[in-house]
Amino acid sequence: STPDIKDKFGREIRYLRISITDRCNFRCKYCMPIHDFNVIPHPDILSYEEMMLAVEAFVALGVRKVRVTGGEPLVRRGVDIFLEKVGKLPGIEEVTLTTNGSLLKKHADSIKAAGIKRINVSLDSLKEERYSSITGGFGMAQILAGIKYAKSIGLGVKTNTVAIRNFNHDEILDFCEFAVENDINVRFIEFMPVGNFEEWKDTGTITGKEILDIIGTKYTYEQIQKEKLSGPAVNYRLSNGAKIGIITPISNHFCSDCDKLRITADGKLRPCLLSDAEIDLLPVIRSGNKEAVIQEIIKGLNLKEKEHHLLSEKRDEGFKRTMSKIGG
Ligand code: GTP
Ligand code: 5AD
Ligand code: SF4
Repeated sequence: STPDIKDKFGREIRYLRISITDRCNFRCKYCMPIHDFNVIPHPDILSYEEMMLAVEAFVALGVRKVRVTGGEPLVRRGVDIFLEKVGKLPGIEEVTLTTNGSLLKKHADSIKAAGIKRINVSLDSLKEERYSSITGGFGMAQILAGIKYAKSIGLGVKTNTVAIRNFNHDEILDFCEFAVENDINVRFIEFMPVGNFEEWKDTGTITGKEILDIIGTKYTYEQIQKEKLSGPAVNYRLSNGAKIGIITPISNHFCSDCDKLRITADGKLRPCLLSDAEIDLLPVIRSGNKEAVIQEIIKGLNLKEKEHHLLSEKRDEGFKRTMSKIGG
């Protein structure tokens, strides 16, 4: 039976993003400062057992889809077993993860064995030099090999490209080719100026409309129907056969039908990505009392907003957490 738990705007919560670590082997410029020594101390990080208890509480409130994020989720030992356990929880319909792809080749078989059908991989450029400059020195070949391998064993792959002016603006059409050649759903995400990151802050965002206009110079396209439990992307089929998604947190934010909650690696419930309002679940999770966790989550539900203010007062204040400590 589906519990009928709604937030104060009547939205049902179906989707949980759980960040299992704030550590990452990459240093994507917009996500994590190069010299971020400010990592979450190990004793504050939830154990897998504690995360399972938390996930069970979210499921009791209606969550059906869990996305495991980081930092980079595949750097945490034991992630494959966790994925499998979450997938086996009664009520869970989909488990997936968002990864930078660097450890994908190593983990793809166990991810598949854990019952995962699809994964999302970050890929901000198809040019070696740019890829390396945005990730803090990583090579692209390993990521492309990981994606290829994942596809070859039957995992669905979507890629995330943060569209950034004067960085990858001129690669939109290349990505549309890449999508067809590799049978991958390529998604463009409007750059969000968050995490006290100055570069690109004022001019970096390329809007979804601009992206579609660029696509329209070469292809015709039509919008395609959303799949059940799918995230905020609007998807299009292009005349070359490519399936392209566009995620518009800036120009056309999707807060009004937001169905998700986030939990950080240190057990903070984050009702909205773009709001620093948090509820600390760590003490109740550590008490082991699932009912008490459920009650705290319900408090957090009431902190969910219906719009964000990224382009107004908030953006100059900055945010307490970098993206790497939220999980996107
Ligand atoms: P799927 O449709 O299942 O692939 O889920 P998804 O698109 O939510 O997953 P993914 O982690 O790949 O999300 C892509 C990116 O879109 C995130 O990392 C964020 O940058 C952005 N995004 C996703 N959800 C939100 C949201 O609620 N608010 C904002 N502002 N951005 C979001
Ligand atoms: N703007 C837009 N998307 C971002 N991501 C991280 N930081 C930002 C940002 N500032 C996305 C990346 C990655 C996911 C985890 O979060 O595309 O795929
Ligand atoms: Fe790591 Fe992903 Fe952040 Fe890049 S965007 S630093 S890969 S968590």
